[in-house]
Amino acid sequence: MSKTLVQQQFGANAAAYLTSTVHAKGASLARLVELVKPGKDWQVLDIATGAGHTGAAFAPHVARVVASDLTPEMLEQVKKLAAEKGYSNMETAIADAENLPFSDASFDLVTCRIAPHHFPNIALFLSESFRVLKPGGTFALVDNVSPDPETTPGFSKAELRDAAVAYNAFEKIRDPSHGRALPTAEWLELIIDTGFVLPHREHAPKAMDFASWVKTMNVPAETVPRLKAMLDEAAPALKAFLKPGPNPNADNKLGFTLDELIAIAVKPA
Ligand SMILES: C[S@@+](CC[C@H](N)C(=O)[O-])C[C@H]1O[C@@H](n2cnc3c(N)ncnc32)[C@H](O)[C@@H]1O
Repeated sequence: MSKTLVQQQFGANAAAYLTSTVHAKGASLARLVELVKPGKDWQVLDIATGAGHTGAAFAPHVARVVASDLTPEMLEQVKKLAAEKGYSNMETAIADAENLPFSDASFDLVTCRIAPHHFPNIALFLSESFRVLKPGGTFALVDNVSPDPETTPGFSKAELRDAAVAYNAFEKIRDPSHGRALPTAEWLELIIDTGFVLPHREHAPKAMDFASWVKTMNVPAETVPRLKAMLDEAAPALKAFLKPGPNPNADNKLGFTLDELIAIAVKPA
């Protein structure tokens, strides 16, 4: 059911993701390339590529990028982006992150950015990423995380647990295909349990413009006040995490902050 919802939500709003600032211009794109240091001869798989921005960030540096996604309309946006940028080494593939249609040990790098919070089974996504990587290959993840002691210090475990539930509810009202943004510690445990070694991780806060955030998913007008009220009335731990307030990068209109985990892991050789 949730995968059907993903295809409905993203199929209907695919074009908005080609131009969405956080997706097209987010700081984590350049940071990923800087951290991964891709090789010229690398075969790269970008999982849940959306409009293809992560694949396109790597395309000039590698031999081939397969930009894959569950939603066919998204892959049409990828084709547009690759044509615009003249990246003839970028191709598209329909693929479910939890059941990848690729051979074992066929990629040097697997990337996935701002998407796993939609996947019903993160352990399966990680084991599929591990399987298709060559020994010594790199796994590069970026995803929005939920509040925990690392992102939101000074609150009790119970307050942070409630804040994480409320944050995920906030996202789900805006986008019914949202599954769950994990807290950092859960990500790290799952990545290590899959068999990866985890040489690097960092957090990157990102400023969100409320109006653009609701527009990208075409949120019904009657739902917008409910989302605003959730920001206004958030408990202290959630307020400390989302930091709602005027966004200096968007004419001081309402904004909030999200936190991206960037993790770079390696499949042992
Ligand atoms: C926010 S967009 C991704 C953004 C993109 N990675 C970027 O860096 O700009 C989320 C994407 O995840 C895809 N998606 C969600 N669940 C999926 C799954 N199980 N397998 C593959 N793609 C999935 C959606 O179709 C959508 O295109």
